[in-house]
Amino acid sequence: MAKTVKTIGVLTSGGDAPGMNAAIRAVVRTAINRGLKVKGIMRGYAGLLQEEIIDMHTKSVSEIINRGGTILYTARCMEFMTPEGQRKGAEICRKHGIDGIVVIGGDGSYRGAGKLSALGINTIGVPGTIDLDIACTDYTIGFDTAVNTAMEAIDKVRDTSTSHERCSIIEVMGRHAGYIALWCGIANGAEDILLPEKYDGNEQALINHIIESRKIGKRHHIVINAEGIGHSTSMARRIEAATGIETRATILGYMQRGGGPTCKDRVYASIMGAKAVELLANGASNRVIAYKNGDYTDFDIQEALAMQKSLPEDQYQISKLLTR
Ligand code: ADP
Ligand code: F6P
Repeated sequence: MAKTVKTIGVLTSGGDAPGMNAAIRAVVRTAINRGLKVKGIMRGYAGLLQEEIIDMHTKSVSEIINRGGTILYTARCMEFMTPEGQRKGAEICRKHGIDGIVVIGGDGSYRGAGKLSALGINTIGVPGTIDLDIACTDYTIGFDTAVNTAMEAIDKVRDTSTSHERCSIIEVMGRHAGYIALWCGIANGAEDILLPEKYDGNEQALINHIIESRKIGKRHHIVINAEGIGHSTSMARRIEAATGIETRATILGYMQRGGGPTCKDRVYASIMGAKAVELLANGASNRVIAYKNGDYTDFDIQEALAMQKSLPEDQYQISKLLTR
């Protein structure tokens, strides 16, 4: 029989993402509207183990839908990777009367959620990461804001790159995934896009392309380099030496994770947060919310973690064609 959930906890875990606050707001307000109590767990699993738990009310989430970051703070927690840490976490939940948790984060956070679920705490994951690298879902909260922030920054680098007739290597985030790089590459009309899923390490081919495009009159050459490839500064030095064209590296870094969320991130976060609470209220556990093939849905956590996602080859090919 499905367990009746009376008090739910909400936490954010892993790298923060714009829209996490909108998701927290949706969790709190949906739960309260359904007659549930809500507790905020600070600093992800680390805060759970430290019992950093606060009561949350409708007003606790006022004025946050437009704010970047996460009002609950976030952390990475090694202790929660251990069975003892997980047991301690489940005991702390019971001590505080928390019988369901919404975990907003990425794949790693889902693994932790799965462990809590196996220990009897009903747990639902909500995809929050700028990387778009969660296989079960076509959308992750934060991606849209991050790519828009990166796109605007790259436009600015392009201006100065053109004025100085330079080559620019611009590194974007994404951990092992190339989604941010691919989207920025297309949106910024980059001359080259280096993606961890595609790049064969053939720097000579890149150098040849930079030389060719200078010969046909291009005044700048923008290379979007994904974090999963990295080494942008040394790459710039080698390219300058080989081409004779001044080359600079720009690593966009954490600015991509900050800022007020776009409309898309606010809306997806609000709906996903609300749906997570609906699942908990209906007695579900060990599930993750996803947006798949045009609709909101949910998957078993282990099934979701076993899924594979690959960068769309056709989109990559189109991105290359458009700059030639
Ligand atoms: P993300 O959720 O963005 O993928 P991480 O991979 O850093 O970020 O995971 C966030 C946190 O989730 C980790 O610091 C840890 O506390 C927890 N976690 C990750 N993997 C596991 C696991 N296998 N078992 C239990 N907890 C985990
Ligand atoms: O997962 C989001 C992300 O920003 C990745 O793109 C990046 O690799 C990582 O987090 C950086 O994490 P940290 O905040 O620990 O440096």
